Amino acid sequence: MPEKTDAATAEKTELKKYQPLVYLTAFTAALAGLLFGLDVGVISGALAFIARAFSASTLEQEWVVSSLLWGAVAGTLISGVISRRYGRRTTLLLAAAVFALGSILSMLAQSAGILIGCRVFLGLAVGMASFTAPLYLSEIAPARIRGALISMYQLMITIGIVLAFLSDTFFASYFKFHGVTGGHWRIMLGILVVPATVMFIGVFFLPESPRWLFLKGRKQEAGRVLARVRADGEEIARETAEIAAELEQENAGWRMFRRNGNFRRAVFLGIGLQVVQQLTGINVVMYYAPRIFQAAGFADTAEQMWGTVLVGVVNVLATFIAIAFVDRWGRKPIMYTGFLVMGVSMCVVGLAMPPAAPLAAGEVPVRAFISIAALLTFIIGFAASAGPIIWVICSEIYPLAGRDFGITCSTATNWIVNGVVGLTFLSLLEGIGPRATFLLYGGLEAVFIIFFLLWVPETKDVSLEKISANLLAGKKLREIGRGRGT
Ligand code: BGC
Repeated sequence: MPEKTDAATAEKTELKKYQPLVYLTAFTAALAGLLFGLDVGVISGALAFIARAFSASTLEQEWVVSSLLWGAVAGTLISGVISRRYGRRTTLLLAAAVFALGSILSMLAQSAGILIGCRVFLGLAVGMASFTAPLYLSEIAPARIRGALISMYQLMITIGIVLAFLSDTFFASYFKFHGVTGGHWRIMLGILVVPATVMFIGVFFLPESPRWLFLKGRKQEAGRVLARVRADGEEIARETAEIAAELEQENAGWRMFRRNGNFRRAVFLGIGLQVVQQLTGINVVMYYAPRIFQAAGFADTAEQMWGTVLVGVVNVLATFIAIAFVDRWGRKPIMYTGFLVMGVSMCVVGLAMPPAAPLAAGEVPVRAFISIAALLTFIIGFAASAGPIIWVICSEIYPLAGRDFGITCSTATNWIVNGVVGLTFLSLLEGIGPRATFLLYGGLEAVFIIFFLLWVPETKDVSLEKISANLLAGKKLREIGRGRGT
C-alpha cells in the first residue's frame, strides 16, 4: 500500500514538471472542440425557427442540418494537405477564421438555400478543426498525458453542444418574454462569431507543432518549442530521436494502404469504428432533440428546449465516467456496457413512443416521461463509452507511418455517416414513425456488440509500438492489443 502511494506521489511530481504552457496550449487547441460542439448543437434549437421563417420542407430542414456535415467531410479531406503544407497552427487559425466568417454569413442568409450554402462553408471549419485539433494535441502533448488531453477535446465538444443548447434556449425564452416574433435563429447562429474570435486570438499565440517544424527542416525552432513543452533534456532528446525515426517513414500513408494488407485492415477497422459511433444514433438526439421531445408528447416549446439542455448536460457529465475508467477497466468492457445500455434504452424510447407522429398535445404524459428517461440513459451510455473511446481507439491502431492517412479516413467517415444520419432522420420519423425508427437504432446497437467481439482489440496498457508491430506481423485485429510493453 505505501509503495502504491509512493508511486502515485512520484507520478504526480512527475506530471507537475510540465509547464503551464502545455496545459494552456492544450486548452486553446481544445477550443476547436468547443466550436465543433457549438456548431453541431446550435441547429437543434434554431431549426424550428428557421423552418418557420423560410417555410422549409422536411427535406430542406434535413439539408439545413446536414449541410454542415458535408462541408465537414470536405474540410477533413483538405486539412490533411493544408496542415502538412502550412502547419497545424495555420490550419487551426484558418479554421477559426472560417468559423467566424461562416457564423456571420449564416446569420445574414436570406433563403433556406443560401443558409444551406453557408453551413457547408461553416462545415469546412468544423472538419478542419476535427482533423487538426486532435493531431496538434497529440503532437504537442507529452506522451504521459496524451490520452487525457485527447479526452479533453471530446469533453470540449460536449461542452460546446450544451452551451449551444443553452444559448438557443436563452434567446428563445428572451424573445418570447419580450414578445418578439421571428429572427431568433439569426442571433442564435450569429453569436458564435464570439467564441470563434476568441479561438482565433488564442491560437495566434500558440507555438507551432514541433513535429511539423522538424518535418519542414526547421530544427532549431522545433527544439525551442520542445524546450517549452517538455519536462527535461532527457525527454527532449528521446522525443527528438523518435521524431527523426518517424520522419524517415513520412508520407507513406497512401503507398502503405495500396501495398500493405495489414495496414489496410487497420484503416478499415478505423472506418468501421466511426460508422459504428455514428450509427448508434447519437446525433439523431443531438440534432433533433426538441423534435423527439415533441414526438414523445411534450407540446410546449420551452419544455422541449429545456429538455434538450438536460440532454446536453447529461452528455457532458457522463463523459467523465469514460475519462475516469478508460485506463482502469479497459476499452472493451466499457464499450460492451455502453452498447448494452444504449440498445436497451433506444428500444424503450421506441416502445414508449406513440406508433405514429405527431402526438396530440398533453396525451399520455407518463409515457412521455418514460421515453425521455430512456433517452437520457441512452446519452449516458454513449458519452461514457462510444463518444470518447472510439476517438481514442482510432488514434491508437495505426502505425506511425500511416497515421495521418488513417485518421483522415476514419474522421472523414465520421462526418459522412453523421451526414447520412442527419439527412434521413426526419424522413424515417415521417415514413415509418418514431417507434419503428428508435427500435431500428436499438437493434443496431446489438449488431455493434458483435462487431466489437469479433474485430476490436483491447488496447489498454499496451504501447503503440507493440500494437503496430502486432498489426504488421499479421495478427488478428482483435488480438493486436495482446502483450504489454511500453
Ligand atoms: C461524435 C459527434 C457527437 C458528439 C456528441 C462525438 O464523439 O463524433 O458526432 O455529436 O460526440 O457528444
